[in-house]
Amino acid sequence: MANNLKWESQKLATWYFTVAAVLFGAQLLMGLIAATQFLYPAFLFELFDFSVARMVHINALVVWMLYAMIGSVYWLLPEETGIETVGVGIGKLLFWILTAAVTVVVLVYILVQVGPADQSTIWLIHEGREYIEAPRWADIGIVVVVLGFLGNVFLTAIKGERTGIMTVILADLIALAGLYLAGMGYTDNISMDQFWWWWVIHLWVEATWEVFVGSLAAYGLIRLIGASRQTVEMWLWIEVAMLFGSGILGLGHHYFWIGTPEYWWEIGALFSSLEPLPLVAMFVHVTYDWGRETGQGHEVSNSPALAWFFTNAFGNFLGAGIWGFFHTLPQVNIYTHGTQFTSAHGHLAFYGAYATILIGMFYIAVQGTNNIKQLKATFDSKMAIFLITLGVFGMTIALTVAGYGQVLVERAQMGATWEAFFISQDTLWFVQGLGWRLAMGVVTLVGFVYLIKDLLSTGKNPIHVR
Ligand code: HEM
Ligand code: HEM
Ligand SMILES: [Fe+2]
Repeated sequence: MANNLKWESQKLATWYFTVAAVLFGAQLLMGLIAATQFLYPAFLFELFDFSVARMVHINALVVWMLYAMIGSVYWLLPEETGIETVGVGIGKLLFWILTAAVTVVVLVYILVQVGPADQSTIWLIHEGREYIEAPRWADIGIVVVVLGFLGNVFLTAIKGERTGIMTVILADLIALAGLYLAGMGYTDNISMDQFWWWWVIHLWVEATWEVFVGSLAAYGLIRLIGASRQTVEMWLWIEVAMLFGSGILGLGHHYFWIGTPEYWWEIGALFSSLEPLPLVAMFVHVTYDWGRETGQGHEVSNSPALAWFFTNAFGNFLGAGIWGFFHTLPQVNIYTHGTQFTSAHGHLAFYGAYATILIGMFYIAVQGTNNIKQLKATFDSKMAIFLITLGVFGMTIALTVAGYGQVLVERAQMGATWEAFFISQDTLWFVQGLGWRLAMGVVTLVGFVYLIKDLLSTGKNPIHVR
């Protein structure tokens, strides 16, 4: 690939994006294995069990997104501050350390899989905490690497110019990194373990990651359609206030059934119900700026990226806001808790809120790397966004249907007994729902192949204006 980047920081960013894309692909393959096992339980039985495929699927998800987020920061840092990233050499070294560690962790997940369930398992194999299963040695390594990353970002921001976007990112990164520590302790009390684990998971995806996305959207709007920085940053501050205002105490919606005090019912219900509001605001903001700027004749400098950013605004609202709100009241959650409905929401929210905008950042990076003035939509880029979005949305609908079958049969009719669980798994709606999920998963994978093909061929495609 030709490399026309002026900033070392942006070169480093492309490394992070590359690993992110590879892990995204691995995530999809693992998802397909797990989805096949739902329908044919004997598939790879005792060789590569469902528990392992599922673990690698969702850990790869979190790790590729963190990679893409770090890449995004290294990408926008020199543009926002006007200077080269301080300590970019150390940043490159840390990239290799982190990537080597991730490789070892994944190989252990796949080859060793399970341990004797004592301290050695926690230290060397995995911690068994959904999404953030990295063993303790890797946890400590991650902390060191992240401290180095934060050091680079802060020193650069202090030395260079400081925009509103940069200020929000600085504050947000401290919170985002700090929360990881909450998921590192050890207790044999499962309620306490879950209590702190949710601090990482919920306060990441419904507070700190959302604020990060707000900052990326702000950066993207200025970059892609020439939106006014003043307007964009004003919106950003409003969104940040709303996101933290609802998201922090919205944590209570995970404290309904794990043994925490009952006052969390009211707190969780109230604040998490408010969470869709900032997502509406973000959707309105992106749509408004898009309409306003293109209405004034501003050219779109990168059409695929803008398409992904817009899909983000809408998908965030739909997956997190609407699908989240559905089951956030305890009166509803008593029926839906832990069913395929949860999985439906999990897929659309992670995709809509995060995968989309990070793919948008991939496109901004290939544009810069290949020195393209105007990046246009290609057949492949359209197929990619169409098929991936169709696939994930299709999976969401299929899982929603399966989930409702479960809610009706397992919970409402049969009272959530052990037997009820198994009977509901055999109902027609459930089985067909999972069949459609697998089919839509294949559609997603095909879209992914188009995406990679498009990203890799940007440099050679004559359609773009140079
Ligand atoms: C981008 C933001 C979001 C992401 C990525 C996300 C993702 C997820 C995921 C993956 C789970 C399943 C966790 C598990 O494994 O147990 C979950 C659970 C849940 N989410 Fe979200 N979510 C988001 C936003 C929201 C919002 C805004 C709401 C409410 C308005 C919400 C309400 C819930 C509830 C109530 C549960 C618990 C479901 C259960 O009891 O089984 N989420 N979320
Ligand atoms: C090829 C496409 C995909 C397939 C076939 C697939 C399949 C699966 C399967 C079978 C599970 C386990 C569900 C369970 O335990 O009941 C799962 C979990 C999950 N997947 Fe996927 N997946 C795919 C793509 C994605 C994408 C694109 C995302 C997000 C960007 C994603 C996010 C998640 C999350 C967050 C969970 C945990 C959900 C929960 O526990 O509620 N998956 N996936
Ligand atoms: Fe939550």
